[in-house]
Formats: sequence, structure tokens, C-alpha cells
Amino acid sequence: MSPLKRLFSFTRRYWYKYVLGLFVLFFTDLFMLFTPKFTGFAIDGIRSLMAGGHVSANIFTERSFLFPYNEMVENLANRLVSSGLIYFLLFAAGVILFVNILSNLFRVFWRLFIMKTSYRVDYDIRDVYYKKLLSLPMEFYSRYSTGELMSRATSDLHAVRMTAGPGILAMFDPLFMGALAIINMISINPKLTLLSLIPLPLIAVLVFIFERIIFKYFKEVQQKFSSLTNYSQNSFNGIKIIKSYTKEVEMADSFDEFSSSYRSSFLKLVRVEGLFHPMIILFSSLSLIVILYFGGKLVIDGIITIGNFYAFQMYLMALIWPMVAIGWVITLWARGMASMFRINEVLESENTLICGKDSIDKINKIEFKNVWFKYPKSKSWILEDISFSFKSGEKIAFVGKIGTGKSTITELLLRFYDPQKGEIIINDKPIKEFSLETLRSSIGYIPQDSFLFSESLKDNLALSFDKDDNLMERVIMNAGLTDTISEFKDGLETVVGEKGITLSGGQRQRMTIARALYRQPAFIIFDDSFSSIDSHIEEKILTSLSGQLTDVMQLFIAHRLSTIQNVDKIFVLRSGKIVESGRYDELLKKQNEFYRIYLTQQLEEE
Ligand SMILES: Nc1ncnc2c1ncn2[C@@H]1O[C@H](COP(=O)(O)OP(=O)(O)OP(=O)(O)O)[C@@H](O)[C@H]1O
Ligand SMILES: [Mg+2]
Repeated sequence: MSPLKRLFSFTRRYWYKYVLGLFVLFFTDLFMLFTPKFTGFAIDGIRSLMAGGHVSANIFTERSFLFPYNEMVENLANRLVSSGLIYFLLFAAGVILFVNILSNLFRVFWRLFIMKTSYRVDYDIRDVYYKKLLSLPMEFYSRYSTGELMSRATSDLHAVRMTAGPGILAMFDPLFMGALAIINMISINPKLTLLSLIPLPLIAVLVFIFERIIFKYFKEVQQKFSSLTNYSQNSFNGIKIIKSYTKEVEMADSFDEFSSSYRSSFLKLVRVEGLFHPMIILFSSLSLIVILYFGGKLVIDGIITIGNFYAFQMYLMALIWPMVAIGWVITLWARGMASMFRINEVLESENTLICGKDSIDKINKIEFKNVWFKYPKSKSWILEDISFSFKSGEKIAFVGKIGTGKSTITELLLRFYDPQKGEIIINDKPIKEFSLETLRSSIGYIPQDSFLFSESLKDNLALSFDKDDNLMERVIMNAGLTDTISEFKDGLETVVGEKGITLSGGQRQRMTIARALYRQPAFIIFDDSFSSIDSHIEEKILTSLSGQLTDVMQLFIAHRLSTIQNVDKIFVLRSGKIVESGRYDELLKKQNEFYRIYLTQQLEEE
């Protein structure tokens, strides 16, 4: 779908608001452009009265298709004059005031219709965008960085909203305004109108040239700004490192560089824009010279009145805005479409995970059959020919050096990715036949990085599931957290900082264990879940778990071998391959890879 079509798909449902808004906008412009003519009428009236004549609606009589009440106005005005000049002046001022109030009242309404609608469109797009992001597979997230996705949701969305609101306005307002001004000018004098429009193409050229320069500079400003925000985001994420390595001064210096580069780009933009507007006005005044000369002659020859002449000039001034607006429209739409394209890229990303509809309640058997896998960005195989199986009530473990693919196996089980070769079978059916939702919700996953949301401990435990106080108490006890939580002033209501920063590493890790237990799954994955917990407490937790989770399938990944002493089978991985498997003591006896890991650990402990 093209960006324009995509934008249209969001604005379409509000079409009547746009139509209403444009309708009201037309009348705003119509009323606004009534003022010059009426002021001209008043000027002529005063002049005529000074010369001893009476007020004439001459300004309306020639080609007066826009104002059918000339005679009525003329009669009224003359009647007022006969009771005193002041009444005529008050009348003229009153009409102008009234029309201005009306026109500004209408302005409020089109603003409500068009601008408010643009915020609705903005809301709709953001909603769809966020939901789309949630639905996209992990593979998508290895292609786009968080900053990239965030900037699309903020500054790009802003540009799109500017198109859906001011962009629409800037397209139609100049059209209405230009057309109405020209019609009014023609009604005063067609020849003079033609003459005064001669310099306008020149302005169009000027607008075109400046628009391109402004666009170029604007893009530069946007790029500089995103580097600046990226840099700040990064530094606050790593604030601990910066402080502990006392890098504050260097960081501040680099920030200064980014910031001043942004500033100088912005100044360049401001300078060009500063030149642009006076230039437009200067070129427009060329028209004024033309009408001063030719229009002046028409006044002297008695073809048009002074009031006409004044009104004509005002209409010419009113034409400047449509000229400027052309540039604005082009910029707004160009920017908006570029941004819509970037948002659309995400909206059109396909969910590459194809899922069946079978629901799964309880996992009781898992089988890997010759599974080969690599990540979208990796050059070589991460997992090679992995085969294993285990069933209800069993515990297995994966061990191996760092980066050998242990966590990757768990990611395949959760279907964050699909293997390129081989098959994963769950309960005797290919994993793809199950719906993602039921598959994932039947797994208690404790990821390697103990991530917590910046919410209360309670909310972190339950996520969006029902809160059951008894169950919560039990899992907290099983995860060895009871004492810790009772020490917090707010207990379970304690709100943790961003990413759980206000908890210790071990507390965080135990929270993630409790979170998985809370769902009472039939299958739990412990990805290195005891690394920050000392071995004494770990043993306590493991003992309490083994009592509770007798028929729960458990998959352990562990660096510390003591964690997996009692599992049914250990698989030893090296560079993505299973090199040996067996029980703890069997593997030790073999004096192979596992034994070597064991020895290294013994040495480290000593
Ligand atoms: N999202 C990813 N995209 C590309 N490559 C990845 C990705 N995640 C991991 N890898 C690579 O895959 C390999 C296996 O990673 P994995 O996380 O499975 O290792 P691991 O055995 O769990 O290591 P550790 O013991 O350190 O946790 C590593 O070489 C890693 O660089
Ligand atoms: Mg890992």
C-alpha cells in the first residue's frame, strides 16, 4: 500500500468531519474577504459626504454577484447619515466587527473539525502501530532498534498528523482564499487584476527554490536531532558505567558536540526561513507598484473609486498567503509522506510465524528432531542437528560454554524463531500446529536477563492474570522471597524502578522465578536462573521446588553445575552441537567435555 493510500485508510472514516470543516473554512474565508470591500465602501461614503454628496454602494454595484443587498445597504447608510455622520461610521464599524466575529467564530469550528480530527487520526495510527509491534515476531526486533521504532512512533507520527490536519488546511485554505480574492478583484476591475497577477509566477518560482532548500536543511536537522536523542538515551541507560568509570566529563563533551552540531544545522534552517518570508513580501510588492501605477490612473480617470482601489490592494495582499502556502503544502505533504512511508514499513511487516489453531493445555512431551537453526543475521549455524526428547515429570539440563546456543534452544521452544531444518514436536504434534497464545501460556519461562516492569511487585508477579493472594504467597515462599518482601515498607505493593533497578540482582532473579511459578505451568524453563543467587539459597529453593513440582517438566540451563546435580539427563553443548549426554555422575565418569567444565569450575572455586 502506498503511503498516501495508507493515510487515506486512516482518515477515510472521518470524511464527514473533513467535509464539514472545509465547508466552514470556506465561509471563514468568504467573511474575511468581505471586510476590504466594506471598508472601501465606507471610505467612498466619507469621501462623497465630504464633497457634499451621499453614500453610494457603487463598490458593490459593479458585478456584485457576491453581494445582492446593495440598495438596501445604500438606503440604510443614507438614512443614518441624515441623523449624523457618527451613526454612519458606527454602522460601518459595527458591520466590520460583526463579520469579523462571525469569521473568527467559524475559524473555531473548522479548527475543531479539522485539527481535532487530525489528533484522532494520530491516535488511531499510534494504536494500530503499537498493536502491530506487539504482534510482530522476534525476528522483526533483530532488524529494528528500539530507538528506530520509537522515533517512528513519535516524530514520524507527528509529521503524519501535521499532514492530516494543517496539511489538509494548507491545501484548501489557499485555494478558497486565492479564488475568492481573485473573484473580488475581478469584480472591481478585470484588467487591473490581470496586470497585478503578472509577478505571481515569479513568487511561485521563489517558493519552489526555497522549499527545496528548507526541506534539505530540515532533514539534516531531524537527523542531527535523532543522533542527539540516541546519544542521551544511551548515556542514561549506561549511567552506572559512566559514573563508575568517571566518564562524566567526556560524556558531557561529546554531548556538547552533538548538541552544537544540531544547533548549527537549526540555525542554518532558521536563516533560510528568515530570508524566505521577507523575499515573498518583497516580490509581492512588485504587484503593488503595478497597481499603484495602473490603479492610480483608473482612479484619476474615474473608472474605479478610491474605496475600490483600497479594497483591490487588500485583496492583493490576501493573495500572498496562498503563495506562501504552496510552499508549506509541499513541505508538509513531502514530510508527511516520507514519515508515513516509515510507519507503513512497520505496519506492512509480515508476521512470518505461521501458526495452527490447536490449543494446548498442558505440555507433557517435547521432542527435537535434527534441528538446525541460525538467526536472521548470523552467518553460520547456531544450532546443528539437535535431537533430544523429554516428557512429563522429567528434568533435563543444558550446559556448555558461553554462546554455545543454550538460550537459543529455549527461544525455539517458545517459537520466538522457527528452525530452518528439522522439527520440534510437542505432545506428538508439530509445534506449528498450536496457536502461539496457548503454546506460550503453557510454558513458564524464566529468561536469562531478569527483566521486571516498572510496576508493583504484585503486578510483576501476576502480569495481567487474576491476583490470587494465597497462590502469590506460596510462590513467593518457593522462590525464597518471603523475608525480602516483608522487609519492604510497602510489601508486595512496592513499585520497582525501571527494569527492576531498585532490586538487587538476586532479588530480581527470584522475582522472575516466582513470576513463572505463579502461572502454575506444566513446563518450566530456568535459563541460568540461579546465577545471582548464592549456592546455599539456591539449594533451599531447589529443594522446595522439587517437592512442589513433582510432575512438572523442568528444563535447566546452568553454569553452576551444582544446580543440575539431580536432573534426569544433562546435554552438553559445544558450538551448537550436543557432544555428550547422560546423568551427572555418568558424565563425570566419562572424563570428557562435561568433566573438563567440572574441573574448570572446581579450580575457579578454589
Ligand atoms: N538475536 C540474535 N541474533 C543473532 N545472533 C544471536 C542472537 N542471539 C544470540 N545470538 C548468537 O547465537 C549464539 C548462541 O547464543 P545463546 O544466547 O543461545 O548462547 P548461550 O549458550 O545461551 O550463552 P550464555 O551461556 O552466555 O547464555 C551466540 O553466538 C550469539 O552471539
Ligand atoms: Mg544464554
